Amino acid sequence: MGQKNIMEYETVDIDVEKKELVIIDQTKLPGTTEILRLSTAKEIWDAIYLLQVRGAPAIGVSAAFGIYILATQIEAPDFDTFYVEFAKQRDYLDSSRPTAVNLSWALKRMDAVCVANKDKYKEELLDSLLKEAIAIKEEDTWVCKRIGEYGLELVKPGDGILTHCNAGQLATSKYGTATAPIYLGQERGYNFRVFADETRPLLQGARLTAYELHSSGVDVTLICDNMSAMVMKNGWVNAVFVGCDRVTANGDTANKIGTSVVATVAKRYGVPFYVCAPTSTIDMSLESGDQIPIEERKPEEVTEMWYKERMAPVGVKVFNPAFDVTDNDLIAGIVTEFGVARAPYTESLKEIFKKKEEAKQ
Ligand code: MRU
Repeated sequence: MGQKNIMEYETVDIDVEKKELVIIDQTKLPGTTEILRLSTAKEIWDAIYLLQVRGAPAIGVSAAFGIYILATQIEAPDFDTFYVEFAKQRDYLDSSRPTAVNLSWALKRMDAVCVANKDKYKEELLDSLLKEAIAIKEEDTWVCKRIGEYGLELVKPGDGILTHCNAGQLATSKYGTATAPIYLGQERGYNFRVFADETRPLLQGARLTAYELHSSGVDVTLICDNMSAMVMKNGWVNAVFVGCDRVTANGDTANKIGTSVVATVAKRYGVPFYVCAPTSTIDMSLESGDQIPIEERKPEEVTEMWYKERMAPVGVKVFNPAFDVTDNDLIAGIVTEFGVARAPYTESLKEIFKKKEEAKQ
C-alpha cells in the first residue's frame, strides 16, 4: 500500500471518545509523519510552544479543543469552583505563544460559551464547549476557502507567486490562507509557479510549505530567504501571498520574521504584496503594529538547530524574534473571508467587520 499523502491528514483534530487532541508533530516533517495524542495541560502547552502545532489558525483550533479536554478533567461540585480552574487552564494555554491573536481569540470564544452555560453545569456545558470547538475548526475551513476565492481574483493563470513561512494547510484546518488561492487555482488548471522562501531559522517554508505544495503536485521552487530579491528582479513573481499572526486596525501586519523584508523588496520591484487574513487574526483592539507583542525565541534556533555542529562562535550575542511587522503602506491588499480590504485600512477593515456582522444576521 502506498504512503498516505500529507494532505490527507487532519492538521488538528480531536478524539472525542478518548478526549485527546490529535496533531501531526510538525517539528518532524517532512522526514517523519508522527501523530501526537495529547491530553494534559502541559502536553498541549508544550505542543504549541515547541511548534509541534503552529500557524495562527491551527493554534486557535488546538487551544479550543485543548481547553475543552482540560474542562472535562475538572472535578468540581459547582460551576463557580469549576470556573476558577477553567480560567486557570485558559490563561495557561494562552501563555504558550504571544503573537498570534487566534490563540486568545479562540480561548475567549470558549470562555464566553462556558459562562453563557453556567446554569447547565456540567454535562450540557461540556457539550456546548465541544460544539464550539468543532465550530471553530469548521469555520476555519470555510474561511480559508473564501480567502482562496478572493485571492484567486488577484492573479491569473501561469502567474508566479512567492510565499514566506507556512500559511498552508499545515497552519490551518484546510487549504491554508496564503496557499488557498494556489490550491483552488491548482484545481482549476491555473498552473501557477510558486516560490517558497525557506524561512530561517525554523525552515517552515522548506519543511512545510515546499512539502505540502510539492505533495499536491504544485510547481514549487524552494529558495533561501536572501534570494527573493533576485527572483522578483528577474520578473518571475507576479504576486506575493503571505499569512499573518496579527493584523492591527491600521493594517500593520505581524507575520513570520522576514516577511517585512519580502514586502519591502516587492514594493521595490512593483510586485503586489497581499496578506491573507482570516478575521480571527485581525485585532481591531490594537491601533498599530507597535502594540503587537513579538515573540523572541531561543538563540540555539539560530546557532545550532539543523546543523551537525554549532555554526556560530560560543557566547556570541543572538537576536531571534519569531515575527516582524510589515507596515501597512507596503501591503497592496488584505484578503479576508469577506473580501479584499485596501488602503486606507482603518476604514476598509471596519467595512470587513460590518460585512461579518451582516452575515451573522
Ligand atoms: O511560528 P509559526 O510557524 O507559528 O509562524 C507561522 C506564521 O508566521 C504564519 O505565516 C501565520 O501563522 C499564518 S498561518 C495561516
